[in-house]
Amino acid sequence: MLTLKGLGVCELSLCCAFLLLLRGVQSDSSKTLELMSMYRLIDGHNDLPLHLRMLGNNKLSQFDLYNSPKTATDITRLKAGHVGGQMFAAYVLCTAQDKDAVRLALEQIDVIRRMCTEYPELELATTAAEMNATKKIACLISVEGGHAIDSSLPALRMFYQLGVRSMALTHTCNTPWAESSSLYYPYYKRENKSLTEFGKAVVHEMNRLGMLIDLSHSSWATAEAVLQLSKAPVIFSHSAAYKICNNPRNVPDKLLLMLKANGGLIMVNFYSDFIACGDQSDVSLVADHFDYLKHVIGAEHIGIGSDYDGASGFPQGLEDVSKYPALIGELLRRHWSEADLAGVLRLNFLRVFEKVEKIRDELRNTLPSEVSIPLAEAQNECRLVLRHPNSSKMVKSSGMQASNLLGSGALFWTVLFFHFMLLHKPTYLN
Ligand SMILES: *[C@@H]1O[C@H](CO)[C@@H](O)[C@H](O)[C@H]1NC(C)=O
Ligand SMILES: *[C@@H]1O[C@H](CO)[C@@H](O)[C@H](O)[C@H]1NC(C)=O
Ligand SMILES: *[C@@H]1O[C@H](CO)[C@@H](O)[C@H](O)[C@H]1NC(C)=O
Repeated sequence: MLTLKGLGVCELSLCCAFLLLLRGVQSDSSKTLELMSMYRLIDGHNDLPLHLRMLGNNKLSQFDLYNSPKTATDITRLKAGHVGGQMFAAYVLCTAQDKDAVRLALEQIDVIRRMCTEYPELELATTAAEMNATKKIACLISVEGGHAIDSSLPALRMFYQLGVRSMALTHTCNTPWAESSSLYYPYYKRENKSLTEFGKAVVHEMNRLGMLIDLSHSSWATAEAVLQLSKAPVIFSHSAAYKICNNPRNVPDKLLLMLKANGGLIMVNFYSDFIACGDQSDVSLVADHFDYLKHVIGAEHIGIGSDYDGASGFPQGLEDVSKYPALIGELLRRHWSEADLAGVLRLNFLRVFEKVEKIRDELRNTLPSEVSIPLAEAQNECRLVLRHPNSSKMVKSSGMQASNLLGSGALFWTVLFFHFMLLHKPTYLN
């Protein structure tokens, strides 16, 4: 009897414990969702526009953005992930540097603008207030790779006019004025020129315009030079902690401390290669980066920059844009406060963006910069030097062209005539 009774009590308490655990899990997840609906996520980096090009040559009519199984991003899953704002990358391949990078960037800006104006669930935003006010998913356009401006401040200003509010100074290639963290491309290799005089002018002009400076993909030396120079806070839109995973795309402690002093933001990339330095990772390993960053610089300098559709190989449990609640749930379990998470989700980014706008307002009496890059630093075949053509050569070559044209034209008509004659010979002669 005693034994039986004991067993009964034991079972009862086991059952209670289970129920309590279940309730705990449920309240955990409802707390996560409550927090995420109150502070809808603003994510720093998404490459869906790249897939619009790769999968369908930017023909939006060929996509159903409510349901896009080939990408990690679609509107249905963005809503499930409680996303309230997304920086979309107008990404330009490094192989386009000194070729048609400017056109490609314009086309990516066009497709983002179309996507965010043609789908009623999305809204193109250009200010912090607009991002904050909309009940839709706000889109912010971000140019990925400074090679897209072809070393031209006027081009940078015109991108701003088209709604671009952020630019990564480099992608995986150096530009003539800033250095990449990657050594993959042979372009513009040089010593001690992490940020040239023209590069400094780009930083000043971005401050003046009110454009976020994105240091993800830049070399550490370039990032350091920019952090010393920029009047406005900067972001790493999709990077993680170097201390946890030694990848040069991640941010070392020294730069993290400079970022804190600058008032900026590191938006944590989920890509397994940067989280775990390998292709296997999970939510817990991502949360380790958040814990570490909080320990070094505090939660107010952390955001989320998932890099969905920018890489293949995302952590188990964080495979697409619907999965953000898994991470927030994990951080709540690790005793992150709601205030800290509200910052990570949304408020930190809005604070930084507002500060960038404030610096712009302070600089409103500064005229647009007329600095241009010295030709010797940006020399390439596609860069036309505007000069009258050599007149003696001009006459000679146009004369030649004219006679060539005449010659080939005469030949063409002769051939056509005989062809016609031969084909229609019977009719003609009869
Ligand atoms: C965002 O909107 C809320 C609610 O209207 C307001 O209290 C807050 O100050 C706004 N924040 C920013 C950064 O605009
Ligand atoms: C680059 O800087 C380092 C350290 O300041 C110096 O030793 C080196 O000579 C410099 N190289 C060039 C090419 O200026
Ligand atoms: C113009 O063409 C002439 C003849 O080809 C050449 O001698 C001269 O150097 C050219 N001048 C320039 C500025 O290219």
